[in-house]
Amino acid sequence: MSFIEEIESIKEAALSGLGAAGDLAALEETRVKYLGTKGEFTALAKGMGAVPKEDKPAAGKALNLAKQALEAALAERKSDLELAAAAPKEATDFTLPGRRGALGRLHPLTQVTEDIVRSFRKLGFVVADGPEIEDDYHCFDALNTPADHPARDMQDTFHVGTRRDAPSREDGKHSLLRTHTSSVQIRVMQTQPPPVRIIVPGRVYRRDTPDQTHNPTFQQIEGLYVDKGVTVGDLKGTVEFVFKEVLGKDVKVRFRPHYFSYTEPSFEIDFSSALVRKMGKDWLEIAGCGMVHPQVFENVGYDPEVWTGWAFGFGIERIAMIRYGIDDIRLFYQNDLRFLNQF
Ligand code: DAH
Repeated sequence: MSFIEEIESIKEAALSGLGAAGDLAALEETRVKYLGTKGEFTALAKGMGAVPKEDKPAAGKALNLAKQALEAALAERKSDLELAAAAPKEATDFTLPGRRGALGRLHPLTQVTEDIVRSFRKLGFVVADGPEIEDDYHCFDALNTPADHPARDMQDTFHVGTRRDAPSREDGKHSLLRTHTSSVQIRVMQTQPPPVRIIVPGRVYRRDTPDQTHNPTFQQIEGLYVDKGVTVGDLKGTVEFVFKEVLGKDVKVRFRPHYFSYTEPSFEIDFSSALVRKMGKDWLEIAGCGMVHPQVFENVGYDPEVWTGWAFGFGIERIAMIRYGIDDIRLFYQNDLRFLNQF
């Protein structure tokens, strides 16, 4: 047998050996048998020295081609056997439902907001929206709170566009982050005739230092109801209906006289429930409200002799705190999954 014939015959033997290997261990054995340091093919390569000089180029070429063929066959068989080893041992039931990835969930504040909105919808309220970067006209002036009104001090906020050439703070065009959703009352009344029945969930801003009950940004739900012959009784009935739905039947609601420049008379609303008492309080202040001030109607072009209305603004965090027994408002804004996964 010539050297080249020898190469061919060992190659054929090795190829059929690789093809016949039934598992990875058998494959490794075959590899060692032919391509290992003491393998048959390796030994053949060592015999090159004895090949006559004029035959060497052809022999070398044949040797290289054979080696490449063997290595390729080895790699292919190896990947086939690895795949087979990874395949399930038992029959697969392709009719089983797939495995679902873990779904995220809504933030507790979003859940509470959606529940409140759902409840107001039953009473015919629609959701309205307005800008978070507001001007001082909509946030204060139109709500009967002129620039020199002391109530403005209690709602200091973040001001935008205070460049030297920015519009003056006197003319109602000064930009700021809205301190309450009440500004949307004005925007809605400016663009539609009465009657009005809206709620406005949204984010508001104040220059507050964060602590257990304060955060410089928080959420409110504003409500506005304008029609003929609207009374405080409607306001109380509506508030009680919605919050018994959202917080449970054992919730108690209390109205206390208060002052807001855009309502007359004005009230604060306090809630009491088992969870509020557990937090060490009898009542928790949760909202401001009242009968819309005639001046506000004048400002938007509604006739105060014809139209009456009430408005309120709730803090959503407070409601979520009562509902879930949370004693620190900052938890809502820390994005800690250990907290969020509980809702
Ligand atoms: N805007 C008030 C606040 O942020 C809450 C409020 C009070 C809203 C009375 C109203 C209202 O609509 O009539 O504290």
